[in-house]
Amino acid sequence: MKKYLAILFVSTLIFACGSEETPSNSKASNKKETKAKAPDGKKIFKTYCTVCHGLYGDMEVNGAKDLNLSILTHAERVEIITNGKNVMTPFKGVLTDEQIAAVAQYTIDAFSKKE
Ligand code: HEC
Repeated sequence: MKKYLAILFVSTLIFACGSEETPSNSKASNKKETKAKAPDGKKIFKTYCTVCHGLYGDMEVNGAKDLNLSILTHAERVEIITNGKNVMTPFKGVLTDEQIAAVAQYTIDAFSKKE
């Protein structure tokens, strides 16, 4: 019984120390995570772009261009997504620069390579 209590005491100590360190530790690891983990372009596209471009980029609602046919470079896409063009709404302030870069890359990877 004494042994059991001792183990319990020690593990409680370890647990207590561990949780004391958690706030600073988790802050540091959170920062690392957001840096290491790039924004999910696919998820962003599904959330913000499918209304007009559709899930496959070819819905052409409100005059939206068929993204499968787009020959724009990454930089040109970033420009259009950031500042909008005609009917397309600007996403500056809605998405971060990193998110815009990710979703622009997604439109290239997912659609433009198709013939
Ligand atoms: C309100 C409807 C609408 C939404 C929402 C929208 N777009 Fe567009 N998009 C358009 C229209 C309309 C055009 C054509 C603009 C023009 O050239 O007149 C366009 C053009 C584009 C082009 C340029 C294609 C080309 O070859 O000229 C890209 C890239 C693009 N959109 C990506 C996106 C992405 C990524 C999102 C989500 C972050 C998005 N769009 C959300 C309507 C929309």
